[in-house]
Amino acid sequence: MSKALSFIFTVMALLIAVSYWMFAMPTVANPPLSEEEAIIERGAYLVNAGGCISCHEGNEGLSGGMALESDFGTFYAPNITPDPVTGIGTWQARDFLLAMQHGRSPSGSFYFPAFPYRSYSDMTEKDVLDIASYLMAQEPVSFNVPDHETPLWLQRWTLAAWNKLADAFEGELPEVDTTDPKVARGAYLARSLGHCSECHTPRNSIGILQLNNEFAGATMGESHADEIDLEALSAWSEEDFAFFLLLGMKPDGEFVGGEMEAVIEHNTSTLTDEDRQALAAFFKSPRER
Ligand code: HEC
Ligand code: HEC
Repeated sequence: MSKALSFIFTVMALLIAVSYWMFAMPTVANPPLSEEEAIIERGAYLVNAGGCISCHEGNEGLSGGMALESDFGTFYAPNITPDPVTGIGTWQARDFLLAMQHGRSPSGSFYFPAFPYRSYSDMTEKDVLDIASYLMAQEPVSFNVPDHETPLWLQRWTLAAWNKLADAFEGELPEVDTTDPKVARGAYLARSLGHCSECHTPRNSIGILQLNNEFAGATMGESHADEIDLEALSAWSEEDFAFFLLLGMKPDGEFVGGEMEAVIEHNTSTLTDEDRQALAAFFKSPRER
């Protein structure tokens, strides 16, 4: 073989390997979704803990349509009721696992990170499937959501590269003492389900979270989410923090505003006292950077 030809073959093989690495569909399980009452109730609790309602609430149930403004365009939260045409009525367990843990649609295309799937990706398989059981047990609502308004360069396939860049450059999460089950539960609720970082952690110029600066505060458009690291919370006791998550009132008696109101209303106020205390224990525990 001539040198030129073997060079071309090497480049082609490399391109194929790289695109396989970026675009390959992850393998996920596909067990039947439970219709048991206790599982559906557990799913309802997790939908609250995951703050899904803050974005997907529609005219009826989770029928979507809310406009989510971001630095990268306007995104409309989809209809996640089990309507087979306008919602997710045809979804199976595998579709939920691909969406929540990998940011991939049933057809293999990539979701925009306006859907905080990178936070949800650490969710346990059981939690994803219980959420799925709950969603599939809801009334189907027929409602077509408007198309996202994004700049031309922002195509779904570009997210394949973005995810790889995020894997490489989002940095390491500070370490907490997860041998304490309360702190471990709080870390799971804050970092995965509650996706607190999506608003409270700074991002780089292409929207990748800087997790080594976890909770250092961030500005998105008009909205500023405060620093909520140990230093910023030095005047808050664990009780203050748990109380804040219930009512939105800070230790100085002021009520929180902005986007945090919906987080308190739909998410943290609906949790058990135990889970609010776990969140407080996590936020007040020492973190190693
Ligand atoms: C910050 C807003 C936000 C939150 C919170 C959120 N989502 Fe979404 N979700 C979106 C957006 C926006 C999309 C569409 C992304 C796209 O089109 O690329 C989406 C897409 C989805 C999809 C795919 C729907 C489809 O038709 O392809 C599912 C399923 C879903 N979300 C479920 C959930 C669940 C369950 C939760 C809570 C655990 C949740 N979402 C929380 C904004 C959100
Ligand atoms: C959708 C974006 C968003 C998410 C998700 C979010 N926050 Fe917030 N948070 C905000 C904004 C914005 C503020 C500032 C509100 C204001 O101006 O009053 C705030 C304020 C706060 C404050 C008050 C800080 C202070 O010093 O005044 C605390 C504490 C807090 N958030 C904790 C959390 C926790 C814990 C989570 C996860 C369970 C979370 N937030 C998730 C947007 C968010």
